[in-house]
Amino acid sequence: MRCIVTGGAGFLGSHLTEQLVAMGHSVAVIDDMFRGSQKNLLGCKGMDDYYLLMGDASNRDLYEKAADKLGGVDCVYHLAAINGTRWFHERPDFVVQVNLDTLRVALDFAITRGSRFVFTSSPEAFGEQPEMPLTNASDSLFSSASEHGRHSYGASKYLGEVLVQHAVSNNSLDARIVRPFNAYGPRLPGNAYGQVTGIFLDQCRRGVPITIHGDGSQTRSFTWVEEAVEGIRIAGELDQGLDGSRLTGAAFNLGNPEEVTIAELANLCLEITGSSSEIHFQEVGHPGDSRRRVPDISQTQSALGWSPFQSLEEGLRSCWRWLQAEHP
Ligand SMILES: NC(=O)c1ccc[n+]([C@@H]2O[C@H](COP(=O)([O-])OP(=O)(O)OC[C@H]3O[C@@H](n4cnc5c(N)ncnc54)[C@H](O)[C@@H]3O)[C@@H](O)[C@H]2O)c1
Repeated sequence: MRCIVTGGAGFLGSHLTEQLVAMGHSVAVIDDMFRGSQKNLLGCKGMDDYYLLMGDASNRDLYEKAADKLGGVDCVYHLAAINGTRWFHERPDFVVQVNLDTLRVALDFAITRGSRFVFTSSPEAFGEQPEMPLTNASDSLFSSASEHGRHSYGASKYLGEVLVQHAVSNNSLDARIVRPFNAYGPRLPGNAYGQVTGIFLDQCRRGVPITIHGDGSQTRSFTWVEEAVEGIRIAGELDQGLDGSRLTGAAFNLGNPEEVTIAELANLCLEITGSSSEIHFQEVGHPGDSRRRVPDISQTQSALGWSPFQSLEEGLRSCWRWLQAEHP
């Protein structure tokens, strides 16, 4: 396949690009390096059929340039977005703008070119829905916008799914939706604008307290990055589901159904790194944080043949080895 990967220099995007290239696909990455980096893609540099276009994924010209380089486009994997919880609170305006503007342009390009489309949504599209596991029939539940901006991200993903479904029904776009659940692995940002696993491991490395928002009993479903991107890749590769189902307009949860509390994650990070960091519970955390996030993956298993196998402990050990190599 000839693929465009928007956000391909980021955490998931760079692993996806590597996997696509390794499987023999041609890839053009579009990324403005807001949170991505060329370093993430060093493994692909110089390879035949790999191209990097640096710029804004809401600029249509870049897609046309990518198509010229690839000689056509079979599939657009749309990952470009503003991710990282702190941004959702500090710049909800920017989060909504980038996440929807880039999607609109990517969708429009795929519609006019007749390319397949894979949209990377999120379990945050369900907001604070308390009933688990999350299925395609789950309702989205967002707290009042006057309280905080947290749901700028989740709501942008919800609206993204609405736009994608509209393009499926009105423009015959062959689009599929994937929702990775807390993917973790090498290259996950560990700074204040990063994600929880990267942040905890980096706090262990620096010997500073591990900061838990709230009492740490909230749970997440941690998914090994190689497995998460395998699901994203397959969602774009298959013509129809392995069970014969129609993939156009289908949405797939990509998450490990095993629930882990944030306190358990912190303790596992301490154990694996041997760090003497203390755990600090911060009463005022990020408002709007969902209590639990558990995926129903039955459809993903039957249609994509996808299941997660990597244990959290093994995955964290790999992350730790990578982090140590990054900071010798
Ligand atoms: N990491 C996860 O566990 C997870 C979970 C659910 C959904 N997602 C979604 O998967 C996608 C990738 O997430 P990630 O964790 O790799 O985040 P990331 O921040 O590492 O990757 C996003 C990439 O998009 C790029 N980008 C941002 N704005 C852009 C713009 N205007 N033009 C071009 N590029 C732009 C960034 O530079 C970055 O490289 C996002 O859409 C995210 O919402 C991720």
